Amino acid sequence: MSTSLDILLVATCWTHVLLAPYTKVEESFNLHATHDVLTYGIGADALQYYDHFIFPGAVPRTFIGSVLLAWISTPAIYVAKYYGSIQSKTDLQIVARLVLATLNAVAVCLIRRATARRYGGPAGVLYTFFTCSQFHLPFWVGRTLPNMFALLPVNIASYLLLNRAPNSQRFPSRDVNRAIGLLVSTAVIFRSEIALLLAPVLLQSWLSGATNLRNIFKVGLLSGLSSIVLTVLVDSYFWQKWPLWPELHGVYFNVVEGKSAEWGISPFHTYFSSFLPKLLLSSFPLALVGLLIDSRIRSLLFPPIAFIAALSALGHKEWRFIVYVVPLFNVAAARAATWLISRRKGSLFGRLCFLAVAGLLVCNFLVTYMLTVTSIANYPGGEALTRFNELYAERENVHVHISNLAAQTGVSLFLQTHAPPYPSQIGIKPPPKSYNWVYNKTENLTPQDITNGRHFTHAIVEVGPDVSTFSMREWDVVDTIQAFERWIPNMELLNGGKVWEPFRMVKKDKLVILERK
Ligand SMILES: *[C@@H]1O[C@H](CO)[C@@H](O)[C@H](O)[C@H]1NC(C)=O
Repeated sequence: MSTSLDILLVATCWTHVLLAPYTKVEESFNLHATHDVLTYGIGADALQYYDHFIFPGAVPRTFIGSVLLAWISTPAIYVAKYYGSIQSKTDLQIVARLVLATLNAVAVCLIRRATARRYGGPAGVLYTFFTCSQFHLPFWVGRTLPNMFALLPVNIASYLLLNRAPNSQRFPSRDVNRAIGLLVSTAVIFRSEIALLLAPVLLQSWLSGATNLRNIFKVGLLSGLSSIVLTVLVDSYFWQKWPLWPELHGVYFNVVEGKSAEWGISPFHTYFSSFLPKLLLSSFPLALVGLLIDSRIRSLLFPPIAFIAALSALGHKEWRFIVYVVPLFNVAAARAATWLISRRKGSLFGRLCFLAVAGLLVCNFLVTYMLTVTSIANYPGGEALTRFNELYAERENVHVHISNLAAQTGVSLFLQTHAPPYPSQIGIKPPPKSYNWVYNKTENLTPQDITNGRHFTHAIVEVGPDVSTFSMREWDVVDTIQAFERWIPNMELLNGGKVWEPFRMVKKDKLVILERK
C-alpha cells in the first residue's frame, strides 16, 4: 500500500516533466549550469565555455545545486543511454529534470510516512491524494528553480520534525538538531528566506524543551560556518570572483538596496489571500479545519504561518518563496479530511462529510487538469526550436537568431542539438558531417540589424510589430508557432454540441521561423 502511494507521487511528478519538457527563463541559470557541468566538466580550463559569463543574470546564484544535480544525473544518463533513450542533448535535459523531480518526490514521500505514523494510515493516504491532485508542487519539483533545490533539504527537515509518535508533545531531540542543521545550511547556500522559517522552528524547539540554547548555538555555528566555507569556495571558483557568497550578495542586493521592489510590490496579505489558495487549492480550507480540530496541527503549522507572515513584510512577493510550506499544509488538510470522513459512519452527516472530501479532491483534479493543459501550450520557444532542428536537420551552415521571447520560453542550451558541445562521454555524438550551426541569442537587435547581418540565415522572431518590419522581399515565413492565449467558454456546449469540455483554449501565433531568400 505505502509503496504504491510513493509510486503514485513519483509518477505524478514525472508526468509533469514529460508533458512539459521545456523550461522558462526563471529556470535557466540552474539549467544551464547543469548543462555546462554535464558537458564541459568542472575543470579550470572548462570554465571559459560556461554560459553564466555571457548571461550572468541580475545576481550571482550558487552552483552547488546544479553541480550536484549534474553529478547525480550522470549515472541516470548512463542507464538511459543503455536503454537507447538518449538520442540528443534534449534528452539529457529531460533526464536531469526527472532526477530532480525524483529527489524532491522522495522527500515528499518521507513526509507521507511521518504523517501516517503520527496521524494514522488514512491521513497518509489522503496526504498523497491531496498532493498529487495539486498543480504547483508536482509541476515545479522537476524544474531547476533555486527554490526547488532548497525544497529538498527543507522537506527532509520537515520529515525529521514530524516523524514521531501520535501523542508526542515535542520534536524528537535527536532529529531536531539535524533538522536545524539542514535549515541553517539551506538558508546559507540556497535560499536566504529559509532563515525566516528556521526562526519559529528554533523558538518552538527551545520553548518545548526539545533542545536547549547551547545545542542550538552549537549546531547553528557548526552548520552555518561549514556551509559558508562550502558556498564561498565553490561559488568563488565558478564565478571567478573572490570572495563570493551568492545568497548574502542576494540579500544585500534585494533587501538592503531594495532592488527586489523593482520587480513589483504586492500588498501585505497577498501570500494569505492569493498565493496560498493558489498553491494549495482545496487543501487550504481543509487545513483551516485542521487548525480548529487538532492541537498537534496548530503546533505543526506555527512555523510555516510565522514564516509567511514574516515574508509578507517584504514588498516583493512570489509564490515560489513560500512553496516549502505546501507539504505541511497538506498534512493538516489530510488530518482534517480523516476527521471529516470518520464522522458518525453511516449517518447522513457522515456521508455528506465523505462526499465533501471527495468533492474537494475532484475540484483539485479539475483545476490541475486545466492548468496542466495550459502549461503544456506555454513554451513556444521550446516548440519553435525543436521544429527548427527537425526542419533543417540535414542543412549545413545555419546561423539562426533567437528572439528574446523564444529564449525565455524554452530555448535552452540543451535544445541546441546541432551545435557543440557534443559530450561523447554521456552518449552525445557530433553529427556525421560538420554541420556548422550557430544559435545566436544576441539581445537588442532590430529587424534591420538581423537583415543587414548577412551571417544570419534564419531567425525565430516574436509575432507582433517586429515581424511586420521584416522585409518579405528578403525573408520567407517557414513556420508559425502558436501558444496559449486564454480560455473561453465553449459555445458548442450551449448549442447542444456533443463536447465534454466547458472551456476551449484559444491559442495565438507567438513566434515565426524566417528563412533568408
Ligand atoms: C551573433 O550575432 C551578433 C550580431 O550580429 C554577432 O556580433 C556575433 O558575432 C554573432 N555570434 C556568433 C557566434 O557568430
